[in-house]
Amino acid sequence: MTFLIAYGTTEGQTQKIVKTIANQIRELGHEVELFDTSNLQGDLQPETFDKIIVAGSVHEKRHQEALELFAMANHRQLQAKPTIFISVSLAAAFEDGLAEAQGYVDSFIEKTGWRPEQNLLVAGALRHGEYGYFKEQILKFFVLKNRKLKNPQIDHEFTDWNLLKNAVADFTQKNAEPVDV
Ligand SMILES: Cc1cc2nc3c(=O)[nH]c(=O)nc-3n(C[C@H](O)[C@H](O)[C@H](O)COP(=O)(O)O)c2cc1C
Repeated sequence: MTFLIAYGTTEGQTQKIVKTIANQIRELGHEVELFDTSNLQGDLQPETFDKIIVAGSVHEKRHQEALELFAMANHRQLQAKPTIFISVSLAAAFEDGLAEAQGYVDSFIEKTGWRPEQNLLVAGALRHGEYGYFKEQILKFFVLKNRKLKNPQIDHEFTDWNLLKNAVADFTQKNAEPVDV
């Protein structure tokens, strides 16, 4: 089978996630094309793939604009395929943030008109060295809010790689013909 993974990333965690997923799917014997939606020159035909994964991260309560445009422009093609939407956020790292994380997905669906077959809320990362003063303030006051981290100065990767791996394995194998690997 052929898989398209279209993604948006701002500080790189979603890119790390999609590269890991791509390797996993290739190891299961399938072909994968990665497409960065910020690449406007891309000449991509989503309808030519068997299954599609769309992944992006949340900043200031929304996913990348380029990712929204990709989903909007291709919503009919996406709707016709087995799809999964992977939404990476910090809210998803906290039990009390899950409703908020799902809210970002609901707004994405409302804006783009594409209703993914499945969606997965994935916890992202904190990489202080890459933010600068303003991003740090946004994170502290609008994202983390009253949530206290043990070591707020150090980088954190909250991504649950096992959860991701299992979800991707299910999605890959669902209705798939057996392949020789
Ligand atoms: C400036 C800034 C704003 C953010 N805003 C949100 C937000 O509104 N909600 C949220 O859950 N996470 C928010 N995050 C956390 C990111 O979603 C998280 O760091 C994610 O791993 C980023 O993925 P990326 O590296 O692929 O862009 C924000 C992060 C930054 C740096």
